[in-house]
Order: sequence, then C-alpha cells, then structure tokens
Amino acid sequence: MRNKVTVVGAGNVGATTAQRIFDKGYADVVLVDVVDGLPQGKALDMLEAGPVVKSDASVIGTNGYDETSDSDIVVVTSGIARKPGMSRDDLLLTNMKIVTDVVENAVSKSPNCILLIVTNPLDAMAQQALYVSGFSSHRVVGMAGILDTARFRSFIAAELNVSVEAISAWVLGGHGDTMVPVAGSTTVGGTPITKLIPVKRLNELIQRTKDGGAEIVGLLKTGSAYYAPSAAITQMVESILLDKKEILPCTAMLNGQYGINNLYVGVPVKLGSSGVEEIIEFALTDEEISALSKSADAVKELISIMDNSNK
Ligand code: LAC
Repeated sequence: MRNKVTVVGAGNVGATTAQRIFDKGYADVVLVDVVDGLPQGKALDMLEAGPVVKSDASVIGTNGYDETSDSDIVVVTSGIARKPGMSRDDLLLTNMKIVTDVVENAVSKSPNCILLIVTNPLDAMAQQALYVSGFSSHRVVGMAGILDTARFRSFIAAELNVSVEAISAWVLGGHGDTMVPVAGSTTVGGTPITKLIPVKRLNELIQRTKDGGAEIVGLLKTGSAYYAPSAAITQMVESILLDKKEILPCTAMLNGQYGINNLYVGVPVKLGSSGVEEIIEFALTDEEISALSKSADAVKELISIMDNSNK
C-alpha cells in the first residue's frame, strides 16, 4: 500500500507540492481547500497527467477532511500570502486562525500523522500547530531552511560557475529577516566558501538570500514563491516517507539546544519516519550563536503577540 499525504491549501504552494509528490508516484495525495471546485479541478488535472509522468498514485481534491483520514503526513500551506511591502510577520494573526482551524480538523482525522507546516510566519505557525495538535514535538516540523539554503546555494553556484550539488550550505534561525546563513559551515567541493568568495561579495549573496522571499514577491506582485518552496517540502516528505534520515535545515522545537528553549527555530535536523529524530548541534562561532539567538528573539516576539491575542 502506498503512503498517504494530505496537502491543505490548493493555492500555488499547495498545488505545486501536491503535483510534485503525485509525480513521484510513491504516495497517494489528497488536496484540500475551502474553495468549491478548486482542489477537485487541480487534482483531476494532475491525475490525468499520470499516464504521461508514469505515476499510478491517486490524487483527489476535496473541500472537507473525511478523505484525509489516516494520512501519514499532513502538509499545511493554507493562509494568506505576502503582498509587496509586507513582511512575513504581517500575516501573523490572520494565518494563526487559519492554521488553528486546519490543524484541528486534520489531526481529528489523522491522529498519527506528522504535521509539516509551511504557512508564514513559519516558526510561529509551527509553534501554534504544536499547541493546537497536542502532538509530541517530533511530529510537528516546519519547512523553511531547505528553501533559504537552496537560494543561498543557487546564488553561490552562479557566482562560482559550479554545480549546485557541489555546494553544502546551512541557513539557520527563524524564516524571516533575521535568518542566519552560516558562512562558516558552507563549503564548495569541501573548500570553505570564505576561501573562494571575498567577504564583501559573500555578504551581498547572504543579503540576497535573506531577501530571497521578498525578491520573488516584488516580481510576482500578487503572491509569493512556490516552485522552490514546493521542492523543499517534497524533499522533507521524501526523507520522512522513505525514512532516509537526511540531515536538513528545518524548523523544529528546541529544548535547550543552541541555548534556546521551548521555541521553534530553524536548525539542522535528522528527518526520518518518526519525524524529527534528532536535532544536530553544529559548532558555531560566537557571532553565529548571537545571530541565532537574535533570530530566536524575533520568533519569541511573534509567539507573545499570539499569546496576547488568545487572552
Ligand atoms: C518565501 C516565502 C514563501 O521565502 O516565505 O518565499
């Protein structure tokens, strides 16, 4: 029997994710959205590509949750997206309500699933999903680090005219303006990046990485990125379903690691069939630790705004 993955939200991120997973053929996919006909139409269109992309999986669309029962993974993409000039944090209270509703519904049908949160502001929404689901934290994980890292790796590859695969990079911290591209752990074919790109230019690439989401929003004007985000989600889904135990930058609950407590922040994690199987603690420089702690403070600030709105 194939695994089952539910994707909630049939907008650009959700639909593209459903398509990528369906195309791989190893999981049946359920696409959920409140808009009548939208998930059904997109799912049927994907299904009809099956003979061409050689996928025998099923993909269905629905406006409810009955069809999502017993999913192995529920990917939550629902929420409003940024418009030019907005930060991810501007979405906080609206998306908090949406994520609360989605998670309540999803876990009532799939009590043993792993929740993969994508809605922004990501780290705060992962924390909210943990709270609403009552799950143990290894079963609630957020996608952001792979995306931020992929942007960083793309820029470095273009700069040095080498394969993207030659680059190992890490972007940690919250998925926001304070994210922490860790230059010290970034290598190209094993050579530290700091030996290959002058500091001034490297800082420009780091800044472009931090602004990567906003750069796409500025170009699209009516939405945010989805090709790279959906690719990142699919890598996480695959590491979980195939129990690959990849070490990937993901948003996970920290309990003392990196000196951070009871907070979702982007860190390297081992991702396997149980979800977050281990948080990997890199040796960071003092400067990197302090940037990570500043980034954690920015997430804490959002959590306290959510807490106050609940009072
Ligand atoms: C981005 C949004 C999806 O970084 O957060 O593109």
